[in-house]
Amino acid sequence: MRVLLTGGAGYIGAHTAIALIEAGHDVLIIDDMSGTSVEAVRRVERITGATVPTLVADVRDVDALTAFVREHAPVDAVVHLAGLKAVGESVAEPVRYYDVNVGTSIALLKVMAAEGIHTIVFSSSATVYGTPEALPLTEDSPTGIDLANPYGKTKRIIEEIISDAAAADPQLRAVSLRYFNPVGAHPSGLIGEDPHGIPNNLMPFVSRVAIGALPEVAVFGSDYDTPDGTGLRDYIHVSDLASGHVAALEQASPGYEVYNLGTGEPVSVLELIAAFERASGRDIPRRVAPRRPGDVAATYADPAKAQRELGWSTRLTIDDACRDYWTWQTQNPNGYAGA
Ligand code: WQD
Repeated sequence: MRVLLTGGAGYIGAHTAIALIEAGHDVLIIDDMSGTSVEAVRRVERITGATVPTLVADVRDVDALTAFVREHAPVDAVVHLAGLKAVGESVAEPVRYYDVNVGTSIALLKVMAAEGIHTIVFSSSATVYGTPEALPLTEDSPTGIDLANPYGKTKRIIEEIISDAAAADPQLRAVSLRYFNPVGAHPSGLIGEDPHGIPNNLMPFVSRVAIGALPEVAVFGSDYDTPDGTGLRDYIHVSDLASGHVAALEQASPGYEVYNLGTGEPVSVLELIAAFERASGRDIPRRVAPRRPGDVAATYADPAKAQRELGWSTRLTIDDACRDYWTWQTQNPNGYAGA
């Protein structure tokens, strides 16, 4: 298939581009490069040996997107990852988050309808489940409970828009993938996460401490009702996450489906730090800090539906993710900017 990948130069996008190309698909990227760099695409090309036509533009620029799709016709499917993703920033700038995330998705659906593209795989998030009522989370678990931030709300709204579009168009094949916590990097060390400033997420933060760029990890809460008192999450290697997109794309049938992409294995903050110490061979100082507002004690997936219906399952462990993140970190101490 020829696949248009929105946000294809981002952390998950670049890994998904590699997985699609390695599965035999042709990839086109549209990305405004606001959170990443064209260097990511160059490295995808270096790893795969493929040429990846790339449009540097906002997906909401319907004229530019339409021209790009026509230039590369026929485009068979879209994998839609473009969007803003910083939870805290979404609380401070809600209108921008709704504008970019929802606006991008609507523009894309319009272009798909006009250009006869009938397949979409959307990057949603386990954040749509809000505070879990029961664990593990299945796709039937309630969504929208205590959704504390506009970022999560945009994901839920976009899921509903895509679901409604599929209900109205019998030709549309639509899938939402609810990611748990993506971590790790490409094993080559060429592609990885490139957060700007001080990272918010745990593994990038731990890695900065391991390399000596930050003094210590603040463990947000050690009195949760969990085995070691720290938060439990379902950390999924970004390469496994990427292969989930390929499976969803290849199996998509008319209608709308939702799949969890997670390992099903809860890992605590302290366990992740210990795994990163093993992978890096460094001591990682940490101190217990107050709980972070908005955090839940535990969240992890039941990935059985994706296993059953997509024939997909994770292959890589938290140790693999730490090793690969550390390779990326040590080879690219300044991210893509150092290239
Ligand atoms: C993981 C665990 C923290 C940093 C967020 C978004 C979600 C998705 C992924 C999408 C928690 C603890 C963290 C630190 C810590 N984003 N922690 N010290 O909050 O599960 O999910 O990122 O684009 O939508 O909500 O991930 O990595 O921030 O935190 O103790 O310095 O690590 O409390 O238990 P989270 P995270």
